[in-house]
Formats: sequence, C-alpha cells, structure tokens
Amino acid sequence: MKTVSHSRPSIDENEIAAVSAVLRSGQIAQGVQVAAFERALAGLVGVRGGVAVSSGVAALHLSLLALGVQEGDEVVMPAFVCTALLHAVRFVRAVPVFADISRETFTIDYRDVKRRLTKKTRAMIVPHMFGLPADMRELVAFGVPVIEDCAQALGSAYEGKQAGSLGALSVFSFYATKVICTGEGGMVASNDRELLSRIEDLRDYDEKEDTGLHFNCKLTEMQAAMGLVQLKKLPEFIARRREIAGKYEDALQKYQVILPSCPENREHIYFRYPIRTKSARKLIEAGLTGRIAYRRPVFKPLHQYTALHQHTALHQHTGGYSLPETDAAFEETVSIPLYPALANGEVEQVLQDLTSALEVQRGIIL
Ligand SMILES: Cc1ncc(COP(=O)(O)O)c(C=O)c1O
Repeated sequence: MKTVSHSRPSIDENEIAAVSAVLRSGQIAQGVQVAAFERALAGLVGVRGGVAVSSGVAALHLSLLALGVQEGDEVVMPAFVCTALLHAVRFVRAVPVFADISRETFTIDYRDVKRRLTKKTRAMIVPHMFGLPADMRELVAFGVPVIEDCAQALGSAYEGKQAGSLGALSVFSFYATKVICTGEGGMVASNDRELLSRIEDLRDYDEKEDTGLHFNCKLTEMQAAMGLVQLKKLPEFIARRREIAGKYEDALQKYQVILPSCPENREHIYFRYPIRTKSARKLIEAGLTGRIAYRRPVFKPLHQYTALHQHTALHQHTGGYSLPETDAAFEETVSIPLYPALANGEVEQVLQDLTSALEVQRGIIL
C-alpha cells in the first residue's frame, strides 16, 4: 500500500491551462496577471491592496523594512513557528524576542507578549498557526505594529473579519503545499497605501532614479495565473479541509488525545491537524518509514534552534529563554495528513493506522 504523504498540492487541468495561456502570450514577467492576483487576494481579505512577491519570507522581510524596523530594534514573535520569521528579522539586523504560545490555540500568548514588550519593541509578527487566527484583539491593543503572518491561514476569520485584515500588514505564502499554491510565492496585503507602495518599490530594482537599495523578488505571470485559479478554488479547498477535520474529530474523540479546538469567535481552516498525545514521538518516528507520514508540526522551536549556536551574536540575544508551553507543544504534538487532495480512502488509512497505534499505547477509553 502506498504511503500517505503529509501534504501535497491540489492541481488540475485548470492551472495547467492558465499557465499555458500565459506562456503562449509571451508576457511572462510581472504584468496583468500579477496585478489581477493582487486585486483578487486583497479583495478576498478585505483590504485596500496587495503586493505580490517571490515568497512568504520575502513578504516578511519587506514588511519589516517598510515599517522601518532597523538594527537593534526588537521584534516580538513566537518560537513555535518555522525559521522564516527568524531569517526575516535577522536580515534587518533587528533582535528577535520570543514569546510563549497558548496551550489551546498554539498561537502567540498575549499575556507573555505583554511581559516582553520594551521601549525597543518596533513590531510584532503574529502567525495564525495551523489555520487558526491568534488573539488579535488583545495583541493589536498593545499599540505595536502587527504583521499578521497568514502563511497558514488564508481564508480563516476572527470576529467575522478575514485573517490578514486586522494588523498593519499581513503576509501570505504560496509555497507548493500552502493553502493555495503557485510553487513559490508570497504577498503582502494592507489597508495602508503608503506601506504598500514602499513594498512595491523594494521588490524591484529596475528604472529607479534614487540610490536606495532594492531587490528583485517579483512574482512571475505564470505563478500569478496559477494563483488566480487556486484562489477561485479556495472555498472548496477550505470546505474539504473542514470535512476531513470533522471525520478526524468524530473518530478520535474517544481516545486520550487532545484535538485542535477553535474559540467561538474564530473560523479555523485546518491547514494542519496537530494532535497532542503521549505517543507523539513514537508516531513521528514511525512516520519516517511507515505507511502514514506523521510529522512534527514545527521543525524546531526557534529558541531551541538558536541555543545550538552558542558563542554567536544570535545566541547572545536569544539564549536563556524559558518557553514551557512551546517546549511542551514540541514534545507532545504530531501533525497528521490533512489537505484537500487527501482522498477518503486515505483518510480511512490514516485513521486505521492512528487508532491502532493509540490502542497499542493503551490510550483508549471505552
Ligand atoms: C508561518 C509561516 N510564515 C512564513 C513562512 C515562509 O513562507 P515561504 O516558504 O513562502 O518563504 C512559512 C512557510 O513555511 C510559514 O509557515
């Protein structure tokens, strides 16, 4: 029997046709498709505009630059997240400040954020982890510019508003296995036209009179054409994600595992389905060679990663953290396959494998 992969994109003839049409048109670098993709995404999120870039980490980097974050400034973020955030902050020579997460939502804990704010805090990066928006009301109330990281949360909502419409800026990723994909790709969205035009200026070096530094981190027309097709499919992608999450919840609730929960004022899109169980480590090990690709939902918490690099300036700033909820989530959580392309037979395969592993661990409550 084939292994069930942890993630894979949903692509059909519609994406192939859209990309082929662009290739035939001869206009392959940033143009009308990119502009249409920016308008469509901003429209869906409910903000004034979007600027397409080459990746999520580029979107983060340019957002920090647009906000004027500089050497020595502090940027608060969780440690239970991928290293993209750390790279973006280090590129602008700012100091990453890690806050712990909330046990229920895996998102940054605003009570811990409050303890970590200083006069040097210039921005906060708030990822909506695994498809669930963070406590935006409390976080925005600190008055520090918030970059909403929606790499895993396009289409989720908080108090009736789309994720990505609540901070100063929001960033998206269209990496191959993200909520929608263009291979690689990203976007910054915002209501602030001034910030958007700074990002637009930064993403392209060509034909500039000034001597400021610019990148080339544009999206291609092929990617944007694919993104437009994917964006149209977003409602069905999310519906399928919720359907699979429902199947998992029904089948797993009698076991001694903690399943993802969603506070009443939010709409989860189940980008990931992280479950907490004493068997997490065993499942992850089994997932490397077995029939089901169980994975850690985060490669390594950032404070554990920087702790490996003692004697470096990075460690000088980020050593000595105590983030108990982050450490516990890392030890106890495993992500099981959940994505729109997962067939019902594969969902069954995951459940069979998982429930028999949980029964062997004597976790069953009858
Ligand atoms: C929360 C979060 N932010 C940012 C990124 C970076 O996106 P990209 O891989 O497109 O650079 C990722 C990707 O893994 C992510 O999960």
